[in-house]
Parts: sequence; structure tokens; C-alpha cells
Amino acid sequence: MATTKEGGLADIVAGTTAICTVGHEGSSLYYRGYSIVDLTQKASFEEVAYLLIYGNLPNQQQLNQYLEKLQKLRGLPVEITHALERMPAATHPMDVMRSTCSLLGTIEPETKEHIAQDVADRLLAMFPAALLYWHHFHLSGERIDVKVEATTTAEYFLKLLYGKQFDAKSELGKLMVKTMDVSLILYAEHEFNASTFAARVCTATLSDIYSSITAGIGTLRGPLHGGANEAAMLLILQYASVEDAKKGMMQKLQNKELVMGFGHRVYKIRDPRSDIIKAQSKALSEALGDKKIFAISECIDKIMMEQKKLFPNLDFYSASAYYFCGVPINMFTPLFVISRTTGWVAHCIEQRKNNKLIRPTADYIGPARLAYVSIDKR
Ligand SMILES: CC(C)(COP(=O)(O)OP(=O)(O)OC[C@H]1O[C@@H](n2cnc3c(N)ncnc32)[C@H](O)[C@@H]1OP(=O)(O)O)[C@@H](O)C(=O)NCCC(=O)NCCS
Repeated sequence: MATTKEGGLADIVAGTTAICTVGHEGSSLYYRGYSIVDLTQKASFEEVAYLLIYGNLPNQQQLNQYLEKLQKLRGLPVEITHALERMPAATHPMDVMRSTCSLLGTIEPETKEHIAQDVADRLLAMFPAALLYWHHFHLSGERIDVKVEATTTAEYFLKLLYGKQFDAKSELGKLMVKTMDVSLILYAEHEFNASTFAARVCTATLSDIYSSITAGIGTLRGPLHGGANEAAMLLILQYASVEDAKKGMMQKLQNKELVMGFGHRVYKIRDPRSDIIKAQSKALSEALGDKKIFAISECIDKIMMEQKKLFPNLDFYSASAYYFCGVPINMFTPLFVISRTTGWVAHCIEQRKNNKLIRPTADYIGPARLAYVSIDKR
């Protein structure tokens, strides 16, 4: 029987998928056969969402209808606004996302009429609204109107974050929207990563789509997975200068500390998403006249390559890109949720098409055949 000696199911093929290829032909990433280089350069996040959820790229009419549908779905049910107001201000935004998803499942459950793809669109449209409603309410007591005009998810998120002061037509505004859009495309899908696998395991028991997405969010939260973008930003901010970063990083490596935002289970040479988001981060750094954050990031990147032969993964330069967009650090992983919801749902639909319960076995390494000791003798 096949076994995973190294643990963590590394290099084990756990099934088949027609949604994504990671790291084939060297360092590459394709969604349903389309390269992420092409998608980030030529498509919008909504086109990619449609591709993942519905199986093909939309034509112009389908895209227009899809954009309209998402805009109409942005409203928050009163049960959700009440819950968001009652959640403690200190709640981690990932818990806000997880709870919002689960709660929506009680209000608009998945049915034969309200199918997985509808749920995906609703969550995609509503997640930014829920997150930013919660944020503003607990920051200033303001109950924001989540029905602001914005064609894309990227623009919508920034408009809800900044309010009226966000100028989507300014050069900086356009660059921020583009960066958000690119990052949403890059985070949308990644084959059998931990959160997608968790969602598929849940789906395979014939559970509902909300349970699968909730499982995905819970799994994404950890710093070895989605939480790495937040941890990477906290690392960058520890250093006051490039010199300081050099010293601090050498110390960390000497202490054999794990550096978040580096390394990958599947990519062995480089993460193809990193250069794409790095270019966005660099452009924002220049537009904002930043002299520190991007330079420190590059310094950390250089040291990790020189000392450990480790390359940055998507999370590392996403951190500074989001930071330059003014996104609070604890919203970095929730942004990942908004995007990855598309990939999760695509996988759940695929799992259902050819379903088999996912239930591996384990090699037992505990004590054998112990005599039962009665409770008064222990
Ligand atoms: C992504 C990750 C979990 C992949 O892990 P993996 O395939 O299980 O690889 P391993 O943890 O076995 O790492 C192999 C070696 O590289 C080292 N290594 C891997 N990533 C490292 C990192 N980010 N910082 C420092 N050392 C790292 C490990 O310590 C290990 O060294 P050892 O052989 O001396 O023990 C791992 O690289 C990591 O923890 N990265 C940081 C978290 C992160 O950025 N996650 C987002 C992934 S997209």
C-alpha cells in the first residue's frame, strides 16, 4: 500500500482534476488550460471567476451579465449585519469570514434551485461587504452602505475600505485597482492545496457547499497556508532599514526560524506568481515614493536565496502590494478567501461529479493490546 514516509502527503497524487496544473513544465500555473501570465495580463478577476466556477471563459455578453449579477448580490441580509455588529471588535477577520459563510448557509441554504454556483457568486459578491461592514462598524460605529457603485470586485473592495475619498480614476487609484485585480486572479486557484483539499474532503461526504467553504476558510487561516501573507508583512515591518533587515534575517536563519512567504511544497525552483505580484508591488512603491518597504522586501528575498536557496512564494510580495494599497494587515488573508472561494467551489463541483468518500488509512504507532485498568486503579 502506498504510504507517505515524509508525512504531509508530499508527492502523493490524491486524485485527478481538470481545473488547474501547478508546476508542470517547470515553474508554471494554468487555470483550466490558461496560463496565469495571460490571465493576469489580459483578463479581469471576474472573467477568471467565471472560468473557474462555470468551466469556460465568458464571452462579452456573459461577462456583462455576470458583472451585473455580482453587483446585485452585494447586499447584506439583516441577520448578517446583526451578527457582524455583535462579533467582538478583536475578532480576527478570518473568523468574520468563516462565521459569515456559515451564517449565510442558514439564511440562503444550498438547494436544487439555489445551487453551488449561485452560492459561489453570492459569497464572492458578499464577502467584501461583510468584511468591511464589520471593519467600519467596530472602528468608528459607522454602518456603511455596502451598495456602492463599482464594476469589479477589486474596485468594490477599495471603495468600501476607503469610502468616498477613494478616487478610482486617479493614476494611483487605477494602479491600486489593477494590483487588487491581479492579486485576486493569482490567489483564485491552486490545485490540491490544503484548503481546497479540506473543502473536497468535506464535499466528498455529500455535505453542503457552505460546509465545504467553511472548512476551506478554517484551513486557509494558518500561517503555513494563507496566513503567510500577514506573517510576511509583520516580518518586513520589524525592520527599520535594509541594514537592520540584513542583520535580523541572518540572526533568524541562524536560529533556524521559519520565514513566512518563502518556499513551497510543489514549486521547486520558483513560484511563477511571485514575479507578477512583485511587479505590482514595485510599481506601487514607486508611485507612493516608498524608500523602505520594497527595499527591505528585496533584501529579505536576496538573503533567503543566498543563504537557503529559497524563493518567495505568492504571499511574500502580496504582503507589500496590499500594504501599499492601504489594506489593514489582518485583512490580507480574508482577501485570499474572497478570491479562493472561486477555486474551492470549482473543486467541490468537480468532486461531486465523480464522488468517492475521501478516507485514507494510517500506520498505527501507538501501544498494542493494553490490559484495561479500572478507573479507581489509575
Ligand atoms: C510552504 C512550506 C510549508 C512547504 O513545506 P514543505 O514542503 O513541507 O517543506 P519543508 O518544511 O519540509 O522544508 C524543507 C526544508 O526547507 C526549510 N524551509 C522551508 N521553507 C522555509 C522557510 N519559509 N523558512 C525557512 N526554512 C524553510 C525547512 O526548515 C526544511 O529544512 P530542513 O530540511 O533543514 O529541516 C514551507 O516552505 C513553509 O513553511 N514556508 C513558510 C510558510 C509559507 O510561506 N506558506 C505559504 C505557502 S504558499
